[in-house]
Amino acid sequence: MHHRTDDARDVVVVTGAGGMGSAVARRLGSGRTLILADASRERLDRTVEELRAEGYEARGVPTDVSDRASVRNLARTAADEGRITAIVHTAGVAAATASVRRILDVDLLGTVYVIEAFEEFAVRGTSLVCVASVAGHLASISAEDEAALATAPAEELLALDAVAALGNDTTAAYLLAKRANLVRVQAAALAWNRRGARINTISPGVISTTMAKAESESDPDRHMLKMLDACGAGRPGTPAEIADAAAFLTGPESQYVTGTDLLVDGGQAAWIRRHMRHG
Ligand SMILES: NC(=O)c1ccc[n+]([C@@H]2O[C@H](COP(=O)([O-])OP(=O)(O)OC[C@H]3O[C@@H](n4cnc5c(N)ncnc54)[C@H](O)[C@@H]3O)[C@@H](O)[C@H]2O)c1
Repeated sequence: MHHRTDDARDVVVVTGAGGMGSAVARRLGSGRTLILADASRERLDRTVEELRAEGYEARGVPTDVSDRASVRNLARTAADEGRITAIVHTAGVAAATASVRRILDVDLLGTVYVIEAFEEFAVRGTSLVCVASVAGHLASISAEDEAALATAPAEELLALDAVAALGNDTTAAYLLAKRANLVRVQAAALAWNRRGARINTISPGVISTTMAKAESESDPDRHMLKMLDACGAGRPGTPAEIADAAAFLTGPESQYVTGTDLLVDGGQAAWIRRHMRHG
């Protein structure tokens, strides 16, 4: 495929070549240099190959987001390609399939590293979107722990009391990691604003990807699906609906939106808070 090389294109970075990452790449990638990052070499190569066959100028950068140096390398590589206009961080692991340590390393620290590494290359108009989760809205965490999750240096996060108290509870670890994503982004907004750049989270509900399939296989009582019926959504969301939200948050219509979260969950969290009968 021929691509003109005489003018630098805007660069879009997508971490995670899974369900959401692929949809976001397709939604945002046209006419831009697309940098895709994933820890699974096989998945990364396959997705990049598919995107190139569809005419995207895509390049894969093998990256483990739980490794600070690897994330820094990704940010530098992307900046070398041109002006980074959007970064959408979808790489993550699920409570159903990962250990507590892996959830903390990837979902908690990985997001901290992405925010940190890309801040250095953020310029006027750059927009970073981190994919958190509706789970982050449902975590019950004290104001003190939340403040620490928002601002403590990365190397101190795993030593926080709230983290030490998780034991082997992977669901609690996922909730905490995703709440940390929300508050970390809020705290980072000031520094990004000073650069003329923006940073937000998207909190998906149940979205039909491999991850949701793994979660539903570990849920024999079909608790999640019943909840989707009860809240009125009646269906899971699609990766394309997350891509639409990412397009809004990285596009010109959200220039005054920063340091906040966009819940894309079909009304699940609102139903849990205002209608679900507890106990
Ligand atoms: N699918 C859902 O229902 C749902 C709901 C709420 C939140 N989320 C969140 O959305 C994000 C994307 O999930 P998805 O549904 O696209 O999942 P997915 O499993 O389809 O894709 C996740 C991708 O992340 C990659 N990855 C895992 N660990 C990595 C690491 N250390 N470094 C780099 N890449 C790594 C995987 O290889 C995979 O390609 C995740 O953060 C997830 O927690 C998903």
